[in-house]
Amino acid sequence: MASVAILTAAGSGSRLGFGYPKALVEVEGRTLLAHAALGLASTGEICRIVVTAPVDHVAAFEEILRSTTELTVPWEVVTGGATRQASVAAGIAALEREAGGHPTYEVVLVHDAARPLAPASMMKRIIDTVRAGYSAVIPGYAVTDTMKLVAPALDAEGPELVAGTADRSSLRAVQTPQGFTWDLLVRAHAAGVDRARSEETAATDDATLVEAVGETVWVVEGHSAALKITTAHDLAVARLLASEIGA
Ligand code: CTP
Ligand code: MG
Repeated sequence: MASVAILTAAGSGSRLGFGYPKALVEVEGRTLLAHAALGLASTGEICRIVVTAPVDHVAAFEEILRSTTELTVPWEVVTGGATRQASVAAGIAALEREAGGHPTYEVVLVHDAARPLAPASMMKRIIDTVRAGYSAVIPGYAVTDTMKLVAPALDAEGPELVAGTADRSSLRAVQTPQGFTWDLLVRAHAAGVDRARSEETAATDDATLVEAVGETVWVVEGHSAALKITTAHDLAVARLLASEIGA
């Protein structure tokens, strides 16, 4: 059975602050959008990619993907939602439409264009682990900083209070792509649909929605190249890394 991917790229990139969507920012002469789509395609496992775009950038995204001649996997660009969760839901709906309402997809990867250098080997590991019977699989890595829990500052200008220290050995920072059986991702999103409307309540990853329906999520080794570009610092790191690995 076929595996498919939803590539979330409908964010505005407000923290990066370029004034245009983050997915259109370039690393080594190629947009984050094209890097991420080519990464998914290079697994050799994905038969369709649905990309979510900001409402006024659908045509621009289509043009970029059309001119990325190495991208031979069929793709489609759809309008994303107000939150990442709503955008993934729009991607699910598009894949359902494509299958005439009766999808028989096996594995679905959900990946962020904000992680353009995620290696194909890591993506393959996610797909293989889902195929091996683990229905929800995410990449994670051990954190190296000591992690504190904080309470709100006593006054607005003052420092925050430490409320405790987390057990670092049981913490993982998690990345994308995250892989799911199709049925589980659909069920988790259907159950979490009410959360999707506002930034405060929406899930920041898909595994959170799977956890909320009581299903087990499994973690496999992530990769430092799958770093998320959020700030100008992250972009500088990604550019250095890309020039080093020849991405
Ligand atoms: N995303 C999306 N739809 C949204 C919001 C985010 O598809 N409504 C996507 C982004 O394009 C990105 C991923 O989800 O690939 C992770 O989001 P984030 O890193 O927060 O990107 P932005 O929302 O673009 O950045 P910012 O929060 O700084 O505006
Ligand atoms: Mg965001």
